Amino acid sequence: MAAVISAAGLARTFQTRSGPVEAVRCVDLTVREGEILGFLGPNGAGKTTTLRMLTTLLKPGGGAATVAGCDLATDAAGVRRASGYVAQSGGVDPQITVREELVTQARMYRLPKAEAVERAAELARELGLTELLDRKTGALSGGQRRRLDIAMALTHRPKVLFLDEPTTGLDPGSRADLWDLVRRLRDEHGTTVFLTTHYLDEADALADRLVVVDRGVVVADGTPSALKLAHGGSIDATLQDTFLAITGRGPAPTADTAPVAV
Ligand SMILES: Nc1ncnc2c1ncn2[C@@H]1O[C@H](COP(=O)(O)OP(=O)(O)OP(=O)(O)O)[C@@H](O)[C@H]1O
Ligand SMILES: [Mg+2]
Repeated sequence: MAAVISAAGLARTFQTRSGPVEAVRCVDLTVREGEILGFLGPNGAGKTTTLRMLTTLLKPGGGAATVAGCDLATDAAGVRRASGYVAQSGGVDPQITVREELVTQARMYRLPKAEAVERAAELARELGLTELLDRKTGALSGGQRRRLDIAMALTHRPKVLFLDEPTTGLDPGSRADLWDLVRRLRDEHGTTVFLTTHYLDEADALADRLVVVDRGVVVADGTPSALKLAHGGSIDATLQDTFLAITGRGPAPTADTAPVAV
């Protein structure tokens, strides 16, 4: 299947008072159309910085990438048309209602008023927000707010949806709903989903393929089973142990697993 996201040598350094921070040093990856990709890595590994570059919010310091055939450097508008982005922390205005937020977003995509109202209602139905349409966004619970963030990112029916820790802070029921939604988007609309998570059970259950970054570099890329086999010791390894082995933050070897010095 065709690659819908392709990045080569993507890099970004931030200048800070205490010196340069190489947030992303070299990210190479390919995501196929309709794939659910789990983008994993420890805190500070460079996941959000990569997502911000792939969604045109941040200029890469090096490398190149295309999203839905549009080049980040020469067709940022094309990339934005093709992508929806749910940031790690949502930025909704607490004083306006859910309905106003959804309609305003649709208007930003230049839908005429009547269509924007219609689209807002449709998104609210899809995300289970209909009962909350007249509530102020500042009064939403964490899970409800997350659903609103996702509804807003889906306004223009993007081909690619970038989700940065979409289920952090959600209760188990809301998390299961979100997994269903992600699968439905892929199955019914062919949406490609690029998501970061620190919940490895979630990555295991949801992602077709995993890319692990550490210190700004891709350190593993494969299906959950392939990574377990290659790094966790067996196909029955937990993704947690596999992840810890990949990122070198695993438990110290025990007496029976420690390599014998000869
Ligand atoms: N605007 C910025 N200015 C300076 N440093 C930054 C900036 N944004 C990110 N960084 C640094 O770049 C590194 C990567 O950050 P990033 O947010 O991409 O990590 P992450 O993988 O998303 O981590 P987390 O799992 O905690 O969300 C970190 O060391 C972070 O402090
Ligand atoms: Mg992050």
